[in-house]
Amino acid sequence: MKILLLGSGGREHALADALLRENTAVDLLAAPGNPGIAEIARTVALDANDPRAVCALAQQEAVDLVVVGPEAPLAAGVVDALRDRRIPAFGPTAGAAEVETSKAGTKALMLAAGIPTAHAETHRRASEAKEAVRIRFGAPVVIKASGLAAGKGVIVCHTLDEAYDAIDRILDARIFGEAGAECLVEQFMTGEELSLFAVTDGTDVLPMIAAQDHKRLLDGDDGPNTGGMGAYTPVSLSTPALVDDVTERILLPTLHALRKRGTPFTGLLYAGLMLTPEGPKVVEFNCRFGDPETQAILPMLTSSLLDPMLAVARGARIGSMPGFTWRAGASVTTVVASPGYPDKPLTGRPIELPSFSDAVRVYHAGTSRAPGGQLQTSGGRVFAVTALADSFAAAQRASREAAASIGFDGALYRRDIGWREAARLG
Ligand code: GLY
Repeated sequence: MKILLLGSGGREHALADALLRENTAVDLLAAPGNPGIAEIARTVALDANDPRAVCALAQQEAVDLVVVGPEAPLAAGVVDALRDRRIPAFGPTAGAAEVETSKAGTKALMLAAGIPTAHAETHRRASEAKEAVRIRFGAPVVIKASGLAAGKGVIVCHTLDEAYDAIDRILDARIFGEAGAECLVEQFMTGEELSLFAVTDGTDVLPMIAAQDHKRLLDGDDGPNTGGMGAYTPVSLSTPALVDDVTERILLPTLHALRKRGTPFTGLLYAGLMLTPEGPKVVEFNCRFGDPETQAILPMLTSSLLDPMLAVARGARIGSMPGFTWRAGASVTTVVASPGYPDKPLTGRPIELPSFSDAVRVYHAGTSRAPGGQLQTSGGRVFAVTALADSFAAAQRASREAAASIGFDGALYRRDIGWREAARLG
């Protein structure tokens, strides 16, 4: 079984690790990959966002399956191009990936289908968006760029002035470029957030265990929003009844609405949920595995990842496949980031990486090799450090200690990943 994995982050390193641990006979090729992936698989320099280049590599290597990690190649139509050439690909088409790439379109789809989500309006003119805030929404309110904005397009505004400023920056100053041609003015929701992933063939779903992400840079959920500073699983709030409820009232009706629209979604559907006092509601959908939740979730998997992925990529149905199974205990992932992250990460710093037991997995994200071979920092989020243990407290401690032992100048990491779970467990 030869697999081409697209992407270069910690999520892709975790996917590579999971696929190879499941089946050592897998011949894994990653494009472009990263130095961590290069230790376990062959890597090839390639623009993963170029459908023609991806198809050429897949054909040249005669791969059996292409797994697409990030959203950008999906939005660029890589899966469409692979399917045209009958190459099995795990991930949605560009039209289906609009669940993530068009927040405006997805909000309209959810509201029309009666899927629980916050009320919102979409605007292209700043004056009309501000009027919506002033007259119909008030503060707090959420302002979102409709398109892809590297995880930074959602601005929670606590005052009217903050909302006006966010609208100006998105619609007029275009801080997110064309992703901000439309913005959503959205009702603020209260509750805890939960990330629930499901592998889907477009009709049926195989949900994974839920995780909780930590978006803010600093301990206590303070500081600027980031791509995610850590995650943990399982989340005790996520009971089997809750997952069943989300499946029945959110996942299946969304897939039905997407089929009806003519953009059936296959691959990994990521539901970002708010557990509100009125029940779970959708904050956002993503069209791919989450980062860093994947780095926490996949090491807990004890059943096959490859079988459902391959079935979906080949166009088979998964309704009769067994659900995923998980090891007991807990998994906590701490992201180690460069100084200056998220605004201006300072890179090029040499890294000293200690060795760890198998209960600690260090997934590379922003690393590269200097000409002499020295491992160095090359991005904002540098590593995702996952610890597995029999209890949440032990996993939290081990993840924090492992993150602290990774040596590079100015390394940043949170010491409180999973603090809500810690408070719940007492
Ligand atoms: N963890 C958030 C995301 O992957 O979008």
